[in-house]
Amino acid sequence: MNGSTDPRLARLPFASKNLLAPMEGVTDPVFREVVQALHEARDLGGTFTEFVRVVDAPIPTAKLRRELGRVHPTIPVGLQLMANRPEPLAGSVENAFEAGAPIVDLNFGCPAKGTLRGCAGGALLDDPPRVEALVAAAVRAAGERPVSVKIRAGGEDDALLEDLARAVENGGAALLTVHCRTRREGYADTADWQRLERAVAAVSIPVCGNGGVDRTADLERVRRETGVAFAMIGRAALADPWIFSGHTASRREAADFLLTYAARMAQAGADPRQVAGRVKQLLRYWTAADLVCGRMDEPDGERRGLLRIETPTELLERIAEAGRRPLAPA
Ligand SMILES: Cc1cc2nc3c(=O)[nH]c(=O)nc-3n(C[C@H](O)[C@H](O)[C@H](O)COP(=O)(O)O)c2cc1C
Repeated sequence: MNGSTDPRLARLPFASKNLLAPMEGVTDPVFREVVQALHEARDLGGTFTEFVRVVDAPIPTAKLRRELGRVHPTIPVGLQLMANRPEPLAGSVENAFEAGAPIVDLNFGCPAKGTLRGCAGGALLDDPPRVEALVAAAVRAAGERPVSVKIRAGGEDDALLEDLARAVENGGAALLTVHCRTRREGYADTADWQRLERAVAAVSIPVCGNGGVDRTADLERVRRETGVAFAMIGRAALADPWIFSGHTASRREAADFLLTYAARMAQAGADPRQVAGRVKQLLRYWTAADLVCGRMDEPDGERRGLLRIETPTELLERIAEAGRRPLAPA
């Protein structure tokens, strides 16, 4: 990490200790750029691509370069790969660094059914030796350059947490990120930070804590209470992209974020339906400035109403209009 005197952290490219989680369907280059623009590197130290699935052949460098997007001067982007075979993974790791990635992250947490059927991502949480072999293959391909690994606390339960953490360390990873829910727990509301402490105790590489880091103050709290070196936020950054600095956005700023994201996606070649789909993905979570009222489980609420809008221009007009509305009295 920039300026760190701890040699374990000096290997890592991150600018500071708060990281934006990789999120498929959300953290594309455009989204990351709009979030990066809101923050100083001291508040947001790094981000990740959506996962790139490696199947039979190494992913070409040109595709990985597109995933990485434009290089930000201070807030780096790690490239996340998900694989279940060492050979194509090793080739993809080499290509990722050639494409300019400052770090490659391996995904062993994805609980999606297709992933599990393909025995990748979260399927490997039941098999620490295979995790170790894949990490080792990636680390060999990376040479001196850093590889990080993101796991969940386990598959059906957390009994293998220490074994998984040690497999990642023995494989040679420079950083272990633990999403403290198991695969079975999915995205449950509760998050057990004691599992982060257990991971910290099991290994000597730095650990990044993820899961239940839902407020700006949690970034510092999770480090203090569990001993993790880094804190990672996923969905709470979709609810409020300013969460890393704690800035309280106005309704206009909140609407501008969504409209800027939409406009930049269109400039990058997305068609109106794709743009609306990605904006809706954010609206499911959005809380900043109370721009959107109603919960996802309220069919007649404003949020579900926005998600039902079929016409992309109408959706964006409604967001702009919400940005002009004054805040409702408390
Ligand atoms: C929509 C969505 C997509 C995700 N995609 C990925 C992914 O591509 N790679 C990954 O490692 N984790 C992925 N995750 C998991 C998050 O990175 C994170 O571990 C999880 O959301 C828990 O953190 P949170 O409680 O702060 O949201 C995804 C989560 C969500 C909600």
